[in-house]
Amino acid sequence: MRSIGVGVVGTGFMGAAHAYAFRTAPLVFDLELVPRLEVVADVRREAAEAAARRYGFARAVGSWRELVDDPAVELVSITTPNDSHREIALAAFAAGKHVYCEKPLATDWADAKAMAKAAREAGVSTLVGYNYIRSPAIAYIRRLVQEGVLGEPLYWRGIFEEDFLADPATPFSWRCRRDVAGFGALGDLGSHLVGMAMFVMGPIASVVGDKRTVIPERRDAPSEASAELYGAQIGAAAAKEAMRRVENDDTAHALLNFSSGVTGSLLASRSHWGRKNHLAFEVFGTKGSVLFDQERFNEVQLFLREGDPARQGYSKILIGPAHPPYGQFTPAPGHGLGFNDLKVTEVAHLLEGLAGDTELYPTIPDALEIERVLHAIDRSAAERGWIEVAEVD
Ligand SMILES: NC(=O)c1ccc[n+]([C@@H]2O[C@H](COP(=O)([O-])OP(=O)(O)OC[C@H]3O[C@@H](n4cnc5c(N)ncnc54)[C@H](O)[C@@H]3O)[C@@H](O)[C@H]2O)c1
Repeated sequence: MRSIGVGVVGTGFMGAAHAYAFRTAPLVFDLELVPRLEVVADVRREAAEAAARRYGFARAVGSWRELVDDPAVELVSITTPNDSHREIALAAFAAGKHVYCEKPLATDWADAKAMAKAAREAGVSTLVGYNYIRSPAIAYIRRLVQEGVLGEPLYWRGIFEEDFLADPATPFSWRCRRDVAGFGALGDLGSHLVGMAMFVMGPIASVVGDKRTVIPERRDAPSEASAELYGAQIGAAAAKEAMRRVENDDTAHALLNFSSGVTGSLLASRSHWGRKNHLAFEVFGTKGSVLFDQERFNEVQLFLREGDPARQGYSKILIGPAHPPYGQFTPAPGHGLGFNDLKVTEVAHLLEGLAGDTELYPTIPDALEIERVLHAIDRSAAERGWIEVAEVD
């Protein structure tokens, strides 16, 4: 069995998910190439040390450069806030290493483009963390659409709502900063939505968008971790309980025209109370429709216009071994997967791609196409009119 040396940069929400997935993927999938957990890095060195102990990395370091330069690391996993993705990825490419990067790629279009160009030139493998498309339910829905079970597709409608910034009393965080996060809900949540739309329905040709910051300022009292990271400037402001202007969108909408002629719409919001991970979409076709909701991602609602109209209605299909790769996790239908299983499936896809057994998707150049749509929505919102996605170049 071959192995590959892995380095994970960052130990927050996604760093933990990546580390867990690297540990777990070989237990769930039959992999030709298995990960060796070599190095974990975090600017908060004690967090890296704790992660090394918990997940079994051989070494913990306080600087991503040390991780990238480590000869035992062949694959660099980037789970830091968006402003550092470009620098870390470019250094990894220069060292000839594969890159697994969290979404979105970067805080602006120029950086995202630079990452895609460098990835192509480096000739290494890349994957971006659009984990929701790894769900067995999504593979099933994609097949329904592609095999024409819904007839001719007519309309796609998607929503991604969370409420982590619904409370005006929630303090300012890195996600509210233009220079660290880039877009707000549009980049954080809308990127998943656009990625999902393109995965199921194909490319998007034109958009008209709108963006709003619904809670314009927040108390500048960052968590200890972000004060340490982003410096005394924030710390001093926090001491005075200053308010700080939110620099990006809480809510973004768009109308979409897919290249296929299908039309659609999307809404992304981080301030809708009660919604925790409401990544939901519907596809309407000439013969039926399908509905998915990530908060209930072990089921799919399917309506088919066939048979006696008196018996027609949405049927609830519980995901099971008939919907790969569910059966890798458990043989019993309807028992359910969880969020981390999507990350495990994503890492298995990555390792299969690195072993040469499958084509990786979405690579960094593929993810640039998702970001092209986000920038088209942003530009359209500023210009107040329709934009051809290809105009973003
Ligand atoms: N795929 C998904 O479903 C998903 C979900 C959440 C976040 N994300 C993405 O993951 C990335 C991280 O988000 P998060 O929620 O894990 O953030 P987080 O704030 O929980 O964690 C970030 C970690 O990076 C560390 N860090 C920051 N700058 C660093 C640097 N220069 N070098 C080394 N370590 C550094 C921090 O100390 C922290 O441990 C973002 O790009 C975000 O958009 C993806």
